[in-house]
Amino acid sequence: MNKIIAIANQKGGVGKTTTAVNLAASLASTKRKILLIDLDPQGNASTAAGIEGANRKTLCDHYFDQVSLEDCTQSSTDDYKIIPGDEGLIALEVAIRNDNNQGFLTKSLADFENKFDYTIIDTPPTLNQLTIEALFCASGTLIPLQCEYYSLEGVAGLMQTIETLSNKNMTSNRVLGIVRTMVDMRNNLAKEVSEELEKHFSNLVFNTLIPRNIKLAEAPSHGISGIKYMPNSYGAKAYLALAGELIRRVEYV
Ligand SMILES: Nc1ncnc2c1ncn2[C@@H]1O[C@H](COP(=O)(O)OP(=O)(O)OP(=O)(O)O)[C@@H](O)[C@H]1O
Ligand SMILES: [Mg+2]
Repeated sequence: MNKIIAIANQKGGVGKTTTAVNLAASLASTKRKILLIDLDPQGNASTAAGIEGANRKTLCDHYFDQVSLEDCTQSSTDDYKIIPGDEGLIALEVAIRNDNNQGFLTKSLADFENKFDYTIIDTPPTLNQLTIEALFCASGTLIPLQCEYYSLEGVAGLMQTIETLSNKNMTSNRVLGIVRTMVDMRNNLAKEVSEELEKHFSNLVFNTLIPRNIKLAEAPSHGISGIKYMPNSYGAKAYLALAGELIRRVEYV
């Protein structure tokens, strides 16, 4: 069993990285072997995993200097492994396009991903070549979404892109689900948008709601996941529940 899951939404700040890191930590806590790939030049997932800047070997080193994926992989402060990212990934994005090397990540991961039960890929807030690489190689995409007025715009575009790639037989990727993040049900608009989502995407919306929880926001500054930082917090419990729901969706089909 191996599943590659892209965490994507071209809208910024919707909780992609928080979801990638805490899902990786939650899945790892079930003794599954997890690889997290930080494909965002911001490198936020790497910082949240406790990786020091100077120690990072990224997919850039793999692409330009033939460093093996094994040698790029590090242990996180949680129980998952990580291939970190940093601003060098901007050059990788350009190189893949210039070299006409679309699908590079799929080829690179082919012999490596089977060492893991799940590979989670954190993507940047744009539909650029790095995100497309993640969508190409993923078997499923998870879309974090904040329940706000503009949040549905863009998601349709992302879904369309996945469908187009899939129809052209370029990927077997499918949308695994939409995760509602930073939920505050005291907010009437959030409630309305959340209900709209349930109506329009009833099969896709995860039941688990990720609440707005300060512990999830504090954890990255300590270089650990919210799961390890404060296991009893609402945020940690929500991500553990989301991992359970994901496992049921992915493994029991
Ligand atoms: N459930 C939550 N409760 C409280 N704060 C949260 C929660 N989820 C995310 N945050 C905070 O919101 C901000 C944006 O989250 P995050 O970095 O995960 O989003 P992102 O989609 O990865 O952003 P980008 O598009 O820049 O990559 C961060 O400061 C994060 O700590
Ligand atoms: Mg991010």
